[in-house]
Amino acid sequence: MGAGSTCACGMSRRRLLGAAGIAGAAVVGASACGTRDEDRPKPQDVLRGTVVAQTTDVPEGGGTIVVEGKIVLTQPEPGDYRAYSAVCPHAGCTIQEVEVNIHCLCHGSEFDIATGQPLAGPATSPLEELAISVSGTDITLE
Ligand code: FES
Repeated sequence: MGAGSTCACGMSRRRLLGAAGIAGAAVVGASACGTRDEDRPKPQDVLRGTVVAQTTDVPEGGGTIVVEGKIVLTQPEPGDYRAYSAVCPHAGCTIQEVEVNIHCLCHGSEFDIATGQPLAGPATSPLEELAISVSGTDITLE
């Protein structure tokens, strides 16, 4: 499978716009309420211990976005799967696109699919890496 992107929910869209940006803005607004970010439940928490995608959903040299739980799954090398939070560290938008890099379309940040490190744009912090395990074709969020 070549580089590209698909949604683990079965859609084959390259961009997830609109509601994702609005959801990201809501997260930013909530950050001003006084609760420390590390104490706040994360969108991924509801999916911990569950299968979030199949390996066949994640193209080699690219990735996909699991909208529920805001998870970016990538496969930088054949059989090497990585997971990151889809919450952009710049201003909290939900990552909308994965091609050769991970793209946040809100302000143009790009992140490396192998490391989550910022490559371009206003973001200066990496995406949060998430622990996953692969059994057969099942990708489970740990
Ligand atoms: S919120 Fe992602 S680049 Fe600004």
